[in-house]
Amino acid sequence: MKVRKAVIPAAGLGTRFLPATKSIPKEMIPIIDKPMIQYIVEECVGAGIEDIILITARGKDSIADHFDHSFEVEETLRRKKNDELLAATEKVSKMANIIAVRQKNPMGLGHAVLTARQIVGNEPFAVLLGDDLVVSEKPCIRQCIEIFEERQKSVIGVMKVEKKDTSKYGIVGGKMLNDRLMDVNVMVEKPSPETAPSQLACPGRYVLKPEIFEILANTKPGRGGEIQLTDALAQLATGDGLLAYLFDGRRYDTGDKLGYIEATVAFALKRPDLADGVRKVLAEYLS
Ligand code: G1P
Repeated sequence: MKVRKAVIPAAGLGTRFLPATKSIPKEMIPIIDKPMIQYIVEECVGAGIEDIILITARGKDSIADHFDHSFEVEETLRRKKNDELLAATEKVSKMANIIAVRQKNPMGLGHAVLTARQIVGNEPFAVLLGDDLVVSEKPCIRQCIEIFEERQKSVIGVMKVEKKDTSKYGIVGGKMLNDRLMDVNVMVEKPSPETAPSQLACPGRYVLKPEIFEILANTKPGRGGEIQLTDALAQLATGDGLLAYLFDGRRYDTGDKLGYIEATVAFALKRPDLADGVRKVLAEYLS
């Protein structure tokens, strides 16, 4: 069955970016001139997904507004004949169908995904976490979907991390089927380097079969007292099966301040309208 829907959990408080996130959702903080969440939605659209289920919370309505028409802005640009900006603005409004659901209690990532159960229904779906941006020729989630379509098993995208960093991620362990694909038999949330089953970490790209919902509904709070998606995936791995795919691409951790700065510089250096200017500015600071 085709993957037509994506769930994007966006209910967090964004504590790592306080005080900026006191009244602005962290997903709306821009990298240059696009809010972070737009890059994630573009990844979905680039993978053929158009129904985006946003898991939000109080005070986060501006995320859904961003993907809606802004009559005043569009009308003003039309009147001023600013066709370029008008096209860019309208493109965002037409990009995807946004369905916003509230996660009323902050009970963890697994609980956030479970909140989408009624809307996803009985079909496979993607999950993308908004703090992780992946730059790749083929969208990262598309790469995972292709493995899902080929093997009909849930797939998570993974990348190799340094041993000291295993405690920041969900880490998989299992048997390599080829250079890039692992048949997962264990998954642990944020293990210490000594106990990590491998150095393959999941930076927030998942393609899941709907069976995960029943597992999540029965998953007890784990690490940090939260219902962990990782714990449900570990159970899936021992039942229906779970694959981990070493995706092709570069990932930026925009939930981290240094990662955010890195992404801003890297994205700016890729923009023809900014690259030369940014290079000059950087050279000045570094000399
Ligand atoms: C979450 C997940 C973790 C995953 C990480 C990716 O953790 O629980 O398994 O590896 O996202 O960014 P968080 O960073 O939200 O604590």
